[in-house]
Amino acid sequence: MCGIVGYIGMRDSQDILLSGLKKLEYRGYDSAGVAVYTENGLEIRKAEGRLAVLESQLQQKPLTGSIGIGHTRWATHGKPSDSNSHPHTDQTMKFSVVHNGIIENYLELKEELMLKGHTFVSETDTEVISHLIAEEYQGDIVMAVQKAIKRMRGAYAIAVLTEHEPDKLVAVRLASPLIIGIGEGENFIGSDIPAILEYTRNVYILNDGEMAVLTKDRVELMTIEGNFIAREMFHVDWDWVTAEKGGYDHFMLKEIHEQPKAYLDTMGSRIATDDSKIILNEISMSEQEIRGIQRIHVVACGTAYHAGLVGKQVIESLVRIPVEAEVGSEYRYRSPIITKDTLVIAVSQSGETADTLAALREAKRLGARVVAITNVVGSSVAREADDVIVTWAGPEIAVASTKAYTTQLIAFYLLGLYMAQVRGTLEGAQIREIIAALRRLPEQAQRILEQQGEIKAYAELVAEHDNMFFIGRSLDYAVAQEGSLKLKEISYIHSEAYPAGELKHGTLALIEEGIPVIALATQPELFEKTVSNIKEVKARGAFVLGIANADDEELVKSVDRLLTIPKTLPILTPALSVIPLQLLAYYASLARGNDVDKPRNLAKSVTVE
Ligand code: G6P
Repeated sequence: MCGIVGYIGMRDSQDILLSGLKKLEYRGYDSAGVAVYTENGLEIRKAEGRLAVLESQLQQKPLTGSIGIGHTRWATHGKPSDSNSHPHTDQTMKFSVVHNGIIENYLELKEELMLKGHTFVSETDTEVISHLIAEEYQGDIVMAVQKAIKRMRGAYAIAVLTEHEPDKLVAVRLASPLIIGIGEGENFIGSDIPAILEYTRNVYILNDGEMAVLTKDRVELMTIEGNFIAREMFHVDWDWVTAEKGGYDHFMLKEIHEQPKAYLDTMGSRIATDDSKIILNEISMSEQEIRGIQRIHVVACGTAYHAGLVGKQVIESLVRIPVEAEVGSEYRYRSPIITKDTLVIAVSQSGETADTLAALREAKRLGARVVAITNVVGSSVAREADDVIVTWAGPEIAVASTKAYTTQLIAFYLLGLYMAQVRGTLEGAQIREIIAALRRLPEQAQRILEQQGEIKAYAELVAEHDNMFFIGRSLDYAVAQEGSLKLKEISYIHSEAYPAGELKHGTLALIEEGIPVIALATQPELFEKTVSNIKEVKARGAFVLGIANADDEELVKSVDRLLTIPKTLPILTPALSVIPLQLLAYYASLARGNDVDKPRNLAKSVTVE
């Protein structure tokens, strides 16, 4: 997803902007650019492709100046191209703008501006912003921006630099994250903290409807109506180093390996020291309110939605409340049935996914109480939910989510157990048994990681195919969906996840000689049933990798390869069985020579609809 940086100070801005943009690469982008105020006025360099392309342009023709804005663009309006890249300017080239998000009424505004003689060179909505600001400018850039944004509808974060007032940067946030970094004799803009962390740890986090005016010595915060705001500075105490690769070839592999620790951190002090119960102080709902919940909706996107599919089964089984899980982009428009007894659980690693946020807002508008499960403290989802369960996975940089997913599962286990405690749907002894099994998960996950050589060998085989299947029943099916998504995201191999019992109703037609099938058979009650389904695909020539519990080794007779995982309670198995699938996707992607951490067309954080 797009990234913004801005710098105003005494140093050369070009390198600071580039280094900030590099820190934002993980969000996904397809072009990049910078605008710097130089002795020749406002100058721009921008290019389609990786940052390296822009960097080499800047090496050939450097931009010298100590105030500038930069951007990485992930195409929405108009294809990735040099002309669609940001920064955009008006036709006088005096006003430059970088922008994250979408201006919904840009066509309307564009037509109006064209009638007034403006000419446009790109297909983007962003270009309209720079023209609109130019049109409104009467000697005061802050007022011109305020007037322009009154005309704009949508969700956005923007940074503006004009040649007319080259001692100022203006930043605005409306439903797309933006922060201001405070230095000494220099200040920064970033769409994300890592962009500026190399230079300062003191930041202001802008809220929706707020703007900032930066000079090198001062930052003024105000509402978009122009009312000044006092805000406490936020000190960032985590280190970018923790987000670096730490000896691994890719962030994804590092993050897969961080899972045992992430499980521990997420359980943390949420389990009583005597292992008798769950303590969720972050849930402010009273016991009476918890007892009154009649139904639960889980809303999320992508991998977080897949965690929700597991969460649905976990809560239904532990608490016996009906749970629906739905993707945010569907939920927000389908007029969901919400009563005052409905609890909505919004799951989001970044806490900034536009569709999840919109679903959360719709749920709140209709009167639901919202619990967020998110990895980012202070994110929009966290701030707008009534209660927040933070997954302590640490920064997740690879676009393909791994440790965020598994810690979301841990959060569901904790929440399910907590609700079961309050509602009395489980006996004390049952709760103790599940807690004891939860405690063993980190060490069990570690043992699976040690089997990565075996998984790599199978992945190399899979990498030669263009199609494959994942099958499983109940929780295994939910995990199969995540395994299939992971593979598609980074290896670009097409795969389908199917409920094992449903194959024969159509998809079996696609099983042919040699096609790889990953069969999950970890649920004891359904083991025999899944074995029958494995036989159905084997009989038609499939090459099957079985994933089963350590004590189900006899499955080896029915499959071509078998991978066993340490035995845990059936309900907790997803936190283990997904790990081989993450590794499979990783090694298949590697074998195909893909960019594992930054797969084509995808973004880490999707802050547009
Ligand atoms: C993007 C990412 C996915 C992620 C989804 C939801 O599409 O590429 O990996 O699962 O967004 O992100 P969230 O931050 O809300 O969990």
